[in-house]
Amino acid sequence: MALADGRRLHLRLTEPGDAEALQRFVRGLSEQSSHHRFFATVHELTPRMLERFTRITDPLEFAVVALASDLAGQPIVGTGRALRGGVDRVEFAVTIADAWQNAGLGGVLLAQILDIARERGIARVEGEVLADNDRMLHLARKLGFTVSADPDEASLRRLAIELAHV
Ligand SMILES: CC(C)(COP(=O)(O)OP(=O)(O)OC[C@H]1O[C@@H](n2cnc3c(N)ncnc32)[C@H](O)[C@@H]1OP(=O)(O)O)[C@@H](O)C(=O)NCCC(=O)NCCS
Repeated sequence: MALADGRRLHLRLTEPGDAEALQRFVRGLSEQSSHHRFFATVHELTPRMLERFTRITDPLEFAVVALASDLAGQPIVGTGRALRGGVDRVEFAVTIADAWQNAGLGGVLLAQILDIARERGIARVEGEVLADNDRMLHLARKLGFTVSADPDEASLRRLAIELAHV
């Protein structure tokens, strides 16, 4: 696929061999992106986090990577993941490399997460974002999520969407 600016990508589920590329992706995030994603400044993932991202065994959970088709080594430039939040619900997170933000990729990855969740019979997708993350809030509303205050933490907003199954 290509973004509106012509940059080409391919998306796929993560594989065990992605751990190193994923670590490079996280190391490359700016302070602000890292803070918006992890609610703290995280410069690297622990071996356990890398393992959880690349060797997924729970059928409800999944992780998607976007790889830059035209760049040497086809680096990871975006990730989307869903972790089990209950029997039929998942919690999502999306992260785009700084140089690739605001070009449509976050929307593509979030839509992909919703498609995979529907295919797997997941009833509800939830997320948590910082209240000042206007871009993520905009994107979530655009894709049909409701946004509500977090009862325990004023700096957070909760996102949720119920998926229709026919
Ligand atoms: C938030 C994030 C995932 C969005 O992905 P992205 O690729 O940058 O976003 P897209 O280009 O797909 O869409 C951005 C949308 O927000 C809009 N937007 C951009 N900046 C905005 C702002 N400050 N306020 C409101 N809307 C904004 C854009 O116009 C676009 O909307 P449109 O398609 O209706 O024009 C990405 O910026 C990111 O990884 N940020 C750091 C990590 C993070 O915040 N993750 C979310 C936690 S789950």
